[in-house]
Amino acid sequence: MSIKKLVRKSILSVKPYKPGRPIEEVKREFGLTSVYKMASNENALGPSPKAVAAIKKGVLNIHRYPDGSCFYLKKALTKKFRLSPENLIIGNGSDEIIVLALRTFINEGDEAIIAEPTFLVYKIAAAIAGAKIVSVPLKAFHYDLEAMKKKITKRTKMIFIANPDNPTGSYVNRTEVEKFLKGLPKDIIVFFDEAYFEYVFARDYPNCMRYLGRGNVIVSRSFSKAYGLGGLRIGWGAASEEIIGYLNQVREPFNVNMLAQIAAAAALEDKNHVIRSKKLIKEGKKFLCSEFKKMKLFFVPSVTNFVLLNAGEKSVQIYDNLMRKGIIVREMSAWGLKNFIRVTIGTDNENRLLIKYLKKFI
Ligand SMILES: Cc1ncc(COP(=O)(O)O)c(C=O)c1O
Repeated sequence: MSIKKLVRKSILSVKPYKPGRPIEEVKREFGLTSVYKMASNENALGPSPKAVAAIKKGVLNIHRYPDGSCFYLKKALTKKFRLSPENLIIGNGSDEIIVLALRTFINEGDEAIIAEPTFLVYKIAAAIAGAKIVSVPLKAFHYDLEAMKKKITKRTKMIFIANPDNPTGSYVNRTEVEKFLKGLPKDIIVFFDEAYFEYVFARDYPNCMRYLGRGNVIVSRSFSKAYGLGGLRIGWGAASEEIIGYLNQVREPFNVNMLAQIAAAAALEDKNHVIRSKKLIKEGKKFLCSEFKKMKLFFVPSVTNFVLLNAGEKSVQIYDNLMRKGIIVREMSAWGLKNFIRVTIGTDNENRLLIKYLKKFI
């Protein structure tokens, strides 16, 4: 008997997510001592020193199970965002909030409306949950909310909106979001993914927490980006008390580890680190984009900590050559973006090194 026959049908067509290559793996493969990762939209500044200190203090308790309710982290979040703990759920990365939402709401064959291309986890996790994926192309590297709304049918259960989006770095503004939410059927869950929220300076960027009371809205945020805790895997979601109640029914009892909870609460308090991280991105992006312009390369204007760049027909070769020099960027064919690479903004040194080699290879 073939094992394949036993596997859930929804899984058979799923192409697994391929993350950016780890630094150690590239060092081993190419015999390099210095490798710079500009591939996974991590924080080039490193973690908050306050988070590191808190972990050192908490590490002696790791023989205990973590607090499944994440009491202290929720308390810190409620203080900062004026939400009540009943409106919050903490996840093993904001990825887990996406997965929990799908596992909670999708019945086999329900439709999930997802932009194409966008953050790949929506499509993968929705397919695993048994959803029928309704893809809506981006318009000029930008979510087309009007087209997404037109795709709503009686079977639509969830709509995902990455704001800002990955891999384009673009965003939808307040007017677009409000127009989209107006008159939306009440039996649809709208999921706003705000993993890059902290980096956005645009005045017309909406804070979707404001829409929690309007229909069935879930908003997710991450500690992996501006807070620099990607390796710990922690993120959070906000929604109505009723939605959070159901998400908690699906959540595993100890889904968020103890050190992640401690570190996230400390990182939230470390305003300086977030300010420094935002400054690094603002300045680095200005430098990189002005260099791309000088090189006459097309890129998508980004409000995030990464830039989607058209590196031309030789983009795969350029990605490969950069890796041999110890610079890992993301090659975008898995997103259907031929000729594109995605570059995470690094330290000044990393950005300059990238430009030096791009000039050489392009
Ligand atoms: C748009 C978007 N959402 C969610 C995530 C997942 O973040 P986390 O590390 O919190 O799981 C990412 C990670 O790159 C992302 O780009």
